[in-house]
Amino acid sequence: MAEASLDAGTPAGTPAAPPFRPGLEGVPATQSAICDIDGRKGILSYRGYAVDDLASQSSFLETAYLLVWGTLPTASQLEEFQQEVQMHRRVSFRIRDMMKSFPSAGHPMDALQSSAASLGLFYSRRALDNPEYIYGAVVRLIAKIPTMVAAFQLIRKGQDPIQPRDDLPYAANFLYMLTEREPDPLAARIFDACLILHAEHSLNASTFSARVTASTLTDPYAVVASAVGTLAGPLHGGANEDVLEMLELIGTEDRVEAWLDQAIAEKQKIMGFGHREYKVKDPRAVILQQLAEQLFDQFGHDPMYDLARKLEAVAADRLGPKGIYPNVDFYSGLVYRKLGIPEDLFTPIFAIARVAGWLAHWKEQLGANRIYRPSQIYTGPSGLTWQPLSER
Ligand code: ACO
Repeated sequence: MAEASLDAGTPAGTPAAPPFRPGLEGVPATQSAICDIDGRKGILSYRGYAVDDLASQSSFLETAYLLVWGTLPTASQLEEFQQEVQMHRRVSFRIRDMMKSFPSAGHPMDALQSSAASLGLFYSRRALDNPEYIYGAVVRLIAKIPTMVAAFQLIRKGQDPIQPRDDLPYAANFLYMLTEREPDPLAARIFDACLILHAEHSLNASTFSARVTASTLTDPYAVVASAVGTLAGPLHGGANEDVLEMLELIGTEDRVEAWLDQAIAEKQKIMGFGHREYKVKDPRAVILQQLAEQLFDQFGHDPMYDLARKLEAVAADRLGPKGIYPNVDFYSGLVYRKLGIPEDLFTPIFAIARVAGWLAHWKEQLGANRIYRPSQIYTGPSGLTWQPLSER
């Protein structure tokens, strides 16, 4: 029906429009050399490097460099990049003052979207064909987004944000700004690995949003702000918060089977399970589970983890045959909780990591830009006669 109405308006000789696919499912919307997902084998790679290797050997800043510039940095390139990021971590007192005027009950993702967009006011020069401008914007966004997330956390508690510490590396400094305590090195290393695991995942909704915004040749702060707004929705970021809620609801291990059977019978979605791309266990969930175990070994066990493992084991029988296994969100909430991070900061932390992927896509989009302008299939009325107000 929809196709017929489109064809009716297509001039003779013009190729027929492709069929309409809600949500563009399966429709290639770009070519990209950034990230590859093999959903049947459970392999995720950034620029050709397996995410397992990056999570165990690399750092978030090195991975961000790899994603944006396409190759692993040399020692001097990495040193320079790290120093530049460190130098740009502070945010203007005017941005901090603006954040102080935000409602303290507001969601941290809304605070982050507004603060990220405000950077465009402070750094308004737009030189998209200048590599130095691109480098500077990448540095500034990767440097300042964590500072803004931590600042809002303290501001909403009625405190003044604390300044970044120059002697602390990227992940450790964020945890310090957030919790006001220097983190244990293992906790900082595990958090850094979490950032690597969330840094990029091909053309998901927020990355698509970033590319659409980038294609208008606007500034990179608007690109990131639009992606943050897209990530904020419950269908994208945020399922790890729901996983904790679900585990709390189940309560004890002996209730897992009955709870799951009832949830499946009621056709509920089990939070932290299933993924459009993966038909096996998400490789990031495999790594996050190992990180969770390291964390619990070092800092004390979380009985919620045993509950999660029992749920995974029972769900393997019930949902595994449909290709539904734990995704990245299943264990990440347990890790963040153990690191002392409040639940409504889980999605802003996702944004801290994903900014690397968004910026990689921004740069790639600029390299072969064509503004996004898909077609639509009009389904409304036509030929109506306007009526004066008095006759309606
Ligand atoms: N629990 C139970 N059944 C599920 C689940 C789940 N988590 N996920 C999918 N299914 C079932 C559906 O009920 C459906 O069954 P049916 O064919 O009998 O009707 C079938 O699997 C296909 O489901 P879709 O929703 O079409 O699968 P899709 O690929 O579109 O969904 C999604 C992917 C949205 C992630 C889904 O699995 C889900 O809602 N999961 C729970 C929420 C979640 O964990 N989200 C985080 C995803 S990771 C991320 O965004 C960072």
